[in-house]
Amino acid sequence: MSEIKNNDWGSNLVIAVSILATSILIYLAILGNTPVAYTGAVNSANETLADRIRPVVTLDDILNADETVVQAETTEVATKTPADLYQAACMACHTTGVANAPKLGDNAVWATRAGLGLEGLLQSAIKGKGAMPPKGASTYSDEELRSVIEYMLTEANL
Ligand code: HEC
Repeated sequence: MSEIKNNDWGSNLVIAVSILATSILIYLAILGNTPVAYTGAVNSANETLADRIRPVVTLDDILNADETVVQAETTEVATKTPADLYQAACMACHTTGVANAPKLGDNAVWATRAGLGLEGLLQSAIKGKGAMPPKGASTYSDEELRSVIEYMLTEANL
């Protein structure tokens, strides 16, 4: 009887250990597999889920891109100095003195014209004078023309 009892106890122990071991294995399998299956699907190229579903271009990208363009344009206008403006539209006549244009840096010639004052010279430049077409044939604003004339007067030590 004791043999049978021992066998029963032994069988029960085997069954109990088997159940426990199986439970642990199932538990470990679930514990181990769930994240592996999840990250495996998403992490194939070291990407997070957020990376994978991120749109190629967002509204922010577009708005920021536009801002960048606007900033670049603003900077371009802001970096044009009166000297740059002079070089671009006025130097052709005023550096050589063609058609009797008052030469840049010629104090004596500019002194005779400075009597008109900055505003008077600006009006000449806006309307044109003698051989000089209106605005020196440029598309400059009055402010830009004024800044160039100030530059011309400074160069003539006036
Ligand atoms: C096509 C040649 C030409 C260009 C380009 C030109 N000028 Fe002149 N400018 C002249 C001539 C010629 C005069 C002299 C006009 C006169 O007194 O008969 C003159 C005179 C002036 C005067 C003196 C006006 C006065 O009342 O005495 C100013 C100021 C002036 N130019 C500014 C400019 C500026 C600024 C630019 C560029 C935006 C420019 N000019 C471009 C030919 C030119």
